Amino acid sequence: MTTNSESVTLINNSNGKQIDLPLHSGTMGPKVMDIRKLYSDMDVFTYDPGYTSTGSCKSAITYIDGDEGVLLHRGYAIDDLAENCNFLEVAYLILKGELPNAAEKAKFESDISHHSMLNEQVSFFYRGFRRDSHPMAVMCGVVGALAAFYHDSTDINDPHQRMIASYRLIAKMPTITGWTYKYSQGQPFMYPQNRYSYSENFLHLMFATPCEAFEPSPVLSRAMDRILILHADHEQNASTSTVRLAGSSGANPFACIAAGIASLWGPAHGGANEAVLTMLHEIGSVDRIPEFIAKAKDKDDPFRLMGFGHRVYKNYDPRAKIMQRTCHEVLDELGVHDEPLLKLAMELERIALEDEYFVSRKLFPNVDFYSGIIFRAMGIPTSMFTSLFALARTVGWIAQWNEMLTDPDQKIGRPRQLYVGAAPRKVQPLEQRG
Ligand code: SDX
Repeated sequence: MTTNSESVTLINNSNGKQIDLPLHSGTMGPKVMDIRKLYSDMDVFTYDPGYTSTGSCKSAITYIDGDEGVLLHRGYAIDDLAENCNFLEVAYLILKGELPNAAEKAKFESDISHHSMLNEQVSFFYRGFRRDSHPMAVMCGVVGALAAFYHDSTDINDPHQRMIASYRLIAKMPTITGWTYKYSQGQPFMYPQNRYSYSENFLHLMFATPCEAFEPSPVLSRAMDRILILHADHEQNASTSTVRLAGSSGANPFACIAAGIASLWGPAHGGANEAVLTMLHEIGSVDRIPEFIAKAKDKDDPFRLMGFGHRVYKNYDPRAKIMQRTCHEVLDELGVHDEPLLKLAMELERIALEDEYFVSRKLFPNVDFYSGIIFRAMGIPTSMFTSLFALARTVGWIAQWNEMLTDPDQKIGRPRQLYVGAAPRKVQPLEQRG
């Protein structure tokens, strides 16, 4: 972050106070106006529900150019990474700042493999849940509970413990997600296999059984790897901001990631991939698309076109394009050529992108629009879609958590407000209350 002499001058006409707010520049993107002295010097707060114009931190991990539809992780474009790296290489990059060389990659893969088992007591923790619990409810509970099993990596002031906790979370999320699915199916838990890659291991944990040999499909493993890359990190989205805010109080890493899972679950955020499939099933056929487009445009109707729109992207989400391509590859590999939901999704996309309402508001398909169709084709139940998003996003969350804790500007997050409640008043005796 560079600060030259540039500034913004604010004049408060209500009290004549004036302040020069320094402008900071980053590597790319809009400059930021430093308002840290605004309240002390001007007696006013800013007001920005949803933080549409507010930078909460500085970060070197991810950069999005919403107008151009560009997504970079540590300077590398998402399509470059998706094409030329596997998920653990991208995880290493996001966590440590550089792509690994061959030796670093081999060691990281080995370290992650050797942290992928869960304390056996965690398997008993699952048994407290109903079998039909929503997987995200289980994931929130199990991840938050990890602090009770891995207390030796909860000292946030110890860089070594922070990195152990980071490795544990990245390594154990496939096992936790796989066990969550197995528990819902009434099937026995499978154990991670160190001979597999990260994504092969995840497919093993999801679909293998003790009854017969299971070899993960190379094409589906590669597709899963690419999908995990596309979901790994995304600047200060709602769940990442939740992780940072929880971490700013000094909460342990497992509690912070559990908070991120809770936030991601919302249908406006990571829950959208599940909501897209529900929506496509509800639309049912191409001839009903106009009816749902009209509902999405109706201000009196809470219905929104799930998988469309984004706070930052006002162009195609670059991840959606790669996801669409992967969707065709997976369906071809599985010999699914007449997937009605894919045809419905593509027709919905075509019609929406010709409609003035969506064009004028720059509402394009986002990362969630096609992912559900791929997951469904791979045999993953709709209720598990957001859990897969959480699995992938864990590396982004934990990298941002580490970055926050090592930022000298960091302090506990405590926003202010505009109070619009009752003016001061006295308690009336019970018999006199209206
Ligand atoms: C993710 O932040 C991230 O980076 C998130 C994410 C990540 O990787 O972490 O990218 C993952 O969460 C992707 C988004 C998944 N959510 C959905 O697909 C749900 C459907 N999308 C909408 O809920 C909405 O687009 C949001 C929540 C994604 C963005 O909402 P904003 O930025 O607050 O936009 P807005 O509500 O101010 O909308 C602007 C206008 C409004 O109309 P007007 O008031 O101007 O008339 O666009 C309309 C909205 O009504 N609008 C939609 C719409 N999205 C916005 N209208 C119909 N359908 C939609 N999907």
